[in-house]
Amino acid sequence: MISVLINGICGQMGRAVYAAIQAQSGAFSAVAGVDPFDCSASYSCPVYKSLDEVQEKADVIIDFSVPATTPDILRYALEQKIPVVIGTTGLGERELKLIRSASDAIPVFQTGNMSLGVNLQLELVQLAAATLGGNFDVEIIETHHRKKVDSPSGTALMLANAIASISPEDEEFVFGRHEKNKRRSDREIGIHSVRGGTVVGEHQVQFIGNDEIIEVSHRAFSKAVFAQGALRAAKFLVAKESGLYNMKNVVTEHDAASRLFSLDEQAAVIIRSFAKEDAFASRVFDVIAEHGVFVDMIACSEPDEQSLSIGFSLNESSLSEALNAINELTRNGYGYTIRTRGDLTKLTLEGTGMALQHGVASQLFSTLRKENIHIWLITTSETRIEFCVDTVHAVRAADAIRQRFSIG
Ligand SMILES: NC(=O)c1ccc[n+]([C@@H]2O[C@H](COP(=O)([O-])OP(=O)(O)OC[C@H]3O[C@@H](n4cnc5c(N)ncnc54)[C@H](O)[C@@H]3O)[C@@H](O)[C@H]2O)c1
Repeated sequence: MISVLINGICGQMGRAVYAAIQAQSGAFSAVAGVDPFDCSASYSCPVYKSLDEVQEKADVIIDFSVPATTPDILRYALEQKIPVVIGTTGLGERELKLIRSASDAIPVFQTGNMSLGVNLQLELVQLAAATLGGNFDVEIIETHHRKKVDSPSGTALMLANAIASISPEDEEFVFGRHEKNKRRSDREIGIHSVRGGTVVGEHQVQFIGNDEIIEVSHRAFSKAVFAQGALRAAKFLVAKESGLYNMKNVVTEHDAASRLFSLDEQAAVIIRSFAKEDAFASRVFDVIAEHGVFVDMIACSEPDEQSLSIGFSLNESSLSEALNAINELTRNGYGYTIRTRGDLTKLTLEGTGMALQHGVASQLFSTLRKENIHIWLITTSETRIEFCVDTVHAVRAADAIRQRFSIG
């Protein structure tokens, strides 16, 4: 059971968070609320005028209030050493700086849009923009209720920024086209606002090409989606170490590392050349290729004045042929030392969310360090980490990694 302190409990979002907690009363409980407005009659938990009056201990704070409160919330969270979820928007550089600094000591979650759907939409529009390239024109249309005063919405800007961030060119944001009597350029993202009725929030991103349109849309039907997102963020945060997190971390958490494969009968070769010799690395792989040997993972150190190290893995059955090949370098006058290691298992940790999360390699290293398991060779790409361990330790290594990353 996660106990929550709701800051801004009398507001629309505070009410929605309280209602979401009541609906999931087995998993969450609202221990107290804070709001200068008096609405205590509507709640079964105590409602205080300020954080300093709060008596109850909470596991996490959820804040939907006003930016002026951010410094107080962070001070309180730091004093109490509890994580904080900040949903309040309109934060300035001062508040964002305080958030970054507090996240050195406690887990802090901050996003301008708590909806999981919108955060997935951010991923999808980047995928669409990367796939479609510059051949499609991008137009964003956002619709909100008649009481909304600011435009465009912060989310429309988040969507435009997400698309612009992966474009090789500088994109120009064009807000509406009233009195713009010129043709659309290739490098613009059009952003348009519609206001009316009770629409909670609608964001439509159009990729318009010749004879076809692709749309990535999100519609929120109630504030409950933001409250649900805040609870999901709170659940994510209470299990985390200090740091700054956002919805992307939540969306991608489970697939940061989702599969683990193992391959036995591997060997590693580590060669250290004596002199700085730019051609050495290419000569090593030339002779190996000439002998028809397949190599797998390759790691190479930056050459310094004295030496250069090259490591690679290969199937154990090819080891003697690879060593014969490398011997040819001695005959050609190259000086080097060579170390080999057999009886290795290659483990491959894979997850599509790895590209979006930092710290996966650090978690892997610390897991194996706790088990006293040595990594012989390691290479990484955006979505996989491959490494060799002694086969005698491979099952223990795999079990520890599966447990660390909750891989079934
Ligand atoms: N991140 C998201 O997904 C998301 C979604 C919806 C709203 N929001 C943001 O959340 C914030 C609140 O939205 P809302 O619709 O509930 O607004 P609201 O005006 O209905 O509620 C704000 C509440 O904060 C209270 N408040 C003011 N000063 C306070 C203080 N010092 N301490 C505690 N409470 C205080 C007010 O009395 C009010 O009850 C806004 O910034 C809004 O833009 C974010």
